[in-house]
This record gives sequence, structure tokens and C-alpha cells, in this order.
Amino acid sequence: MNYSKIIGTGGYLPKRVLTNFDLEKIVDTSNEWIVERTGIHQRHVCEDNESAVTMAEQAGLRALEMAGLKPKDVGMIIIASTTPQLIFPSTACLLQERFGISGCPAFDLNASACAGFMYAFSIADQYIRTGAIKNALVIGSEVMSRVVDWNDRSTCVLFGDGAGAVVLGASKEPGVLSTHLHADGMHKDVLYLPLGNSKSPNLESVKMIGNQLFKLAVTNLGDLFDETLAANNVDKHQIDWLVPHQANIRIIQAMAKKLDIPMERVTITLDKQGNTSSASIPLSLDEAVRDGRIKPGQLLMMEGFGGGLAWGSALVRY
Ligand code: UT7
Repeated sequence: MNYSKIIGTGGYLPKRVLTNFDLEKIVDTSNEWIVERTGIHQRHVCEDNESAVTMAEQAGLRALEMAGLKPKDVGMIIIASTTPQLIFPSTACLLQERFGISGCPAFDLNASACAGFMYAFSIADQYIRTGAIKNALVIGSEVMSRVVDWNDRSTCVLFGDGAGAVVLGASKEPGVLSTHLHADGMHKDVLYLPLGNSKSPNLESVKMIGNQLFKLAVTNLGDLFDETLAANNVDKHQIDWLVPHQANIRIIQAMAKKLDIPMERVTITLDKQGNTSSASIPLSLDEAVRDGRIKPGQLLMMEGFGGGLAWGSALVRY
């Protein structure tokens, strides 16, 4: 039996930090409202010379270093992003150019933003399980600061920029136990990012019906946990760590309650990073791996949820 296993993680955050107090000067909001409703205290924001590919490069190199691999060893590059520098070539091809490598398949994946990483992770896992490739570099990289309306307090306070990366490698020992992906286009209007029009296809800004999205996230992720546990015949009390998408601390608390797992066993980066969309899961995983909280052999439940709707999970033996 072939498995894929997480053999490296990496993250990158832009240096510039925007606190809730900074936002109070930009829009009609308050630190108190943002902390109470979301759990966010600050977020990182790219400089003009940074982009999804420059951040992906830094996160990817760190993950490869942990895996003991060089860019030339990579079997496949998948970058989950809804904020690429170019529509094409893909961010993954731009990364190949920065790495100075060619040949391996490289592509971007747009699974409506925040679920993108789980989709990319699942695809890489399938390719490794079949023996088609020996390893994959899976990255979520987002410049959300360029697609929010900085006059819209209902969205601009939520998001941040960053990149997170994972290297999956082939293994005979169990690593990724299963992945589960879903989508429901019937709720396309609760979170979306329009293009202008075909003559002038500039991006507009993120539109969101936050409270509807909140309820859909809690319901669908709850069902997804049941499905993921049942598929592996695992009891929820066997989970060592919940590694969730970082959209709102209240959603994360509801998910922890569903798994009956204490918040000390949940990776949280939302307070310092905001919602970095497809980068949030690997960023929080990387932090907990590097500071030694997540240890080899432990069982992780990873989940992502976002526009589309699209959502996904993975049960992983780290
Ligand atoms: O990553 C993809 C997945 N994303 C999510 O799952 C996000 C899910 N949704 C959420 O996290 C929450 O719905 C939000 C944080 C976006 C909003 O929190 P909420 O508790 O659902 O607030 P609400 O949208 O129902 O708005 C409550 C009030 C409104 O005022 P009124 O109508 O009650 O007078 C808003 O205008 O809060 C107001 N409000 C704000 N006030 C101060 C909205 N944004 C702000 C703000 N500062 N930044």
C-alpha cells in the first residue's frame, strides 16, 4: 500500500503588519468589534514588490529544506491561489522559473479561495498513492489585501496575506489516511470575487454575506468531520490536533466542540494573521510543527471551507 506523508512544512508572512487599531483609522470599525466577532488582532500585508509567487517561493523553500529536498527534486507543484499575479502563466510555472527548474507538472488550483489548499493537498495525495510521482510541493499563497475593498468594513478587517507550504512524499507507512472534497454551487452568491467585464477584466473586490456563510460553514464542516471519521473508523477522541482553516474564531470553536477537542489542541494563527484564505491551513500547521506542538505519529484533522461553496478535509498521521 502506498501512502503520501507530510515530510516538510513552510510558511512566509510579509513583514508589514496592520493592526485592528490601524484599521480603526481607515474604516468605521473598532478593535473590540473585530476581536469579539472574529478573534483577529492583526494581519500581514504585502509590499508592492511582493506577490503570490514571491511568497510561495519563500514558503516552498522552507518546506523543501525541512524535507531534505532541493527544488530540482520536486515531482509536482500545485499552488492554490485566487490572487495570482497573472491569470497565466500559472503561479506554479512562475515559481519554476524562480527555482530555475523545468519538466515537472506545475499548475495553479482555484477551488474558490479558502478550500483551495485541501483540494490541492488531495490531488497531490492521489498522484503519490498511485505511484505516478514520488513527491509534491503543495502551496497556498494569497494576496488578499489586493482584492478587498478597503472602504468595506465587513470584509477588509477579515483578511491577510501569506503563503504556507507542505511537501508530501511517498511512504509505506500511513501518512495521509483519507481526503474528502465537496462543493455546492447553489450558494455561489455568499462569497465571490467578480471580474470587471470582458473588455476590461480588472478584478473588483471580495463580496460576502458573512452571517450566511458562517452558518453554512458550521453545518457543512460538522458533516464533513462525521464523514472523515467514519471513512477511517476513527473515534473523534483519537484526534490529537484540529488544523482548521482560519476564518473566524467562533467557527473554529464550534468545530472544536464538534470534535470534543480542547482549544489547546487546535492550531490557531488567526489572531496574528487574519484569514489568509488558501494559505491559512499550511501556515497554522507549519507554526505548530516548528514549535514542536505537533509531533510525529499524532493524528491530525485538517479542514478548509470557502466560497463556491467548496470545502474539504484530510485525516493525517503526521
Ligand atoms: O474564509 C472563507 C470562509 N469565511 C467565513 O466563513 C466567514 C464567515 N462569517 C464570519 O466570520 C462572520 O459572519 C463575520 C465576522 C464576517 C461577521 O460577523 P457577524 O457576527 O456575522 O456580523 P454580521 O455580519 O451579522 O453584522 C453584525 C453587525 C452589523 O451591524 P447591524 O446591521 O447589526 O447594525 C454590521 O454592519 O456588525 C456590523 N459590522 C461591523 N461593525 C464594526 C460588520 N463589520 C463590522 C466591522 N466593524 N468591521
